[in-house]
Amino acid sequence: MVQFPEQFRWGTGTYSYQVEGAAHEDGRGESIWDRFCATPGTIVNNESGLVACDHYHRYAEDIALLKQLGVQMYHFSIAWPRIMPTGRGPVNQLGLDFYDRLVDALLEAGIEPFATLYHWDLPQALQDELGGWANRETAYAFAEYVDVVTKHFGSRIHNWLTLNEPAVTAFEGHEIGIHAPGARDVRLAWQTTHHFLLAHGLAVPIIRANGDEKTRVGITLNFTQLDPVSDTPEDVAATRFMDGKMHRWFLDPIFRGAYPADVVKHLGDYVPKTETGDAEIIARPLDFLGANYYTRSVIKHDPTAFSEYPSVDVEGVEHTEMDWEVYPRGIYNMLTRLHREYAVPRIYLVENGAAFADAVNPDDTVDDPRRIAYLREHLLQVHTAIAEGVPLAGYSVWALLDNFEWSEGYRMRFGIVYVDYPTQKRIMKASGHWYQKVIASNTVH
Ligand code: NOJ
Repeated sequence: MVQFPEQFRWGTGTYSYQVEGAAHEDGRGESIWDRFCATPGTIVNNESGLVACDHYHRYAEDIALLKQLGVQMYHFSIAWPRIMPTGRGPVNQLGLDFYDRLVDALLEAGIEPFATLYHWDLPQALQDELGGWANRETAYAFAEYVDVVTKHFGSRIHNWLTLNEPAVTAFEGHEIGIHAPGARDVRLAWQTTHHFLLAHGLAVPIIRANGDEKTRVGITLNFTQLDPVSDTPEDVAATRFMDGKMHRWFLDPIFRGAYPADVVKHLGDYVPKTETGDAEIIARPLDFLGANYYTRSVIKHDPTAFSEYPSVDVEGVEHTEMDWEVYPRGIYNMLTRLHREYAVPRIYLVENGAAFADAVNPDDTVDDPRRIAYLREHLLQVHTAIAEGVPLAGYSVWALLDNFEWSEGYRMRFGIVYVDYPTQKRIMKASGHWYQKVIASNTVH
C-alpha cells in the first residue's frame, strides 16, 4: 500500500471534440476535425465527433459522475470554433454560455476546472484562409481568441493549459497525415511546431493579464519512453533523434530558451523559419507542466528515413487495444527526467490510461481488470517518483468517458465510465469504482 501526499490532487478529463457533439448547435463554426472526418476513409468506420457523448447536453450528468468519483480537478478544453466560429472576429455568446454553464456547475460541485485552450479543433476558416498552423498568423489569431476566453473566465478558471500535445498535432496532422488537417509535408510539419510554440508563448502573458493572483499557466506535452531496438550507433542515434523530435524540441525552447542543437543540425534547411524575439516569447516562465504518458516505443534506424524513424513491435509483453505496450516504468523515467534535466517547477500528470475492449455484463456492470492493473502499476511508479522529490501536484486518468478517439473513432474505449452510444447511457466501470476508492483513501493498494 502506498500513501500519496496530503495535498495531492486527483482528476480526470474529457476534451471538446471528443465528447461534446452538438457540432452544428448554437453557432459553433466548423473545425478542421469536422472537415477531416467528413473525408471518407480518414476515420475508422467514417465516424466523427458530430454527436460523440452528447456532453454538450449531458454535461450536468457527467459532472454528477465526477462528484461520485470524488475528483478534485477536471481537465476539459474549450472549442475555439464555439467561441469564434470563423477563427477571428465576432464572438459567439452562445459558445461562451455553454462553458459558463459547465464551469459554474464544476465550481458548484467543488471541482477545480483545468481548461485547455487548444485541443486540436482549429476553426476551419483559419485553415482555408491562412493555411492553419502552417501560417504564423494563426498564432496571432490564437492570441486574440485566448484574450476573449481568459477575459471572460479569468476570475473563475485559475488553471490554464495553452496547447495540448503540440508534437502530436504538428506531426500526425502535417507530416504523417492521420490527424486533421491531413497534410503530408515534412517541411511544413516542422514549421507548424514553431507556430504552435509561438502561439503558446504569446498566450502566456495574456492569460496572466486577464487572471488574478491565483492564475496558473502551463502547457500539456506528451511523453513516450523511447528505447533503441539494439545498441548499434545507428539505432541509438535514431532513438536520440526521435526523443529530440517528440520531447526536447518542445521542452528545450520552453524551459531552456533554444531548440536542441542536435535536432537543428539533423534538420538542416528543414529547420523552421523563426523571427527575432520568438525564443524569448516561447521561453516565458510557466507555473507548471502538464504531462501525458501512455507507452513505450522501440525505435529502429532506417537509412531511408529522415524525420520519422519506425518503431518495432515488442513481443511477449502486454499491449492495450491501441496496440500500445504497457510499460509502467516509463512514467517514472519521464517524471524524474523532467525534474532532473529541466527543473520543471511543478508537474501535473494530465493523461494516463488505457483502451481495452470493454463490454457490458447482463447486470449492467463493466469489468475492466486490465485497466485497473494498468492504472495501479502506473500509480505505483508515480508514487516512487514523488518519493524521490519530483514536484508532482496531481494525477488525472484519461478519460472520464469513452469517447471519440480521433482516427480510431469510437472503438477505442479509454473511459472509466462506459458510454453506450446508441442510448448515451453512462455506466461506471469497475475501474471507476476502484479510482473512487483511491481518491477517497489517497492510497493505492
Ligand atoms: C492524447 C490526447 O490528448 C487525447 O485526445 C487522446 O484521446 C489520448 N491521448 C489517447 O490517445
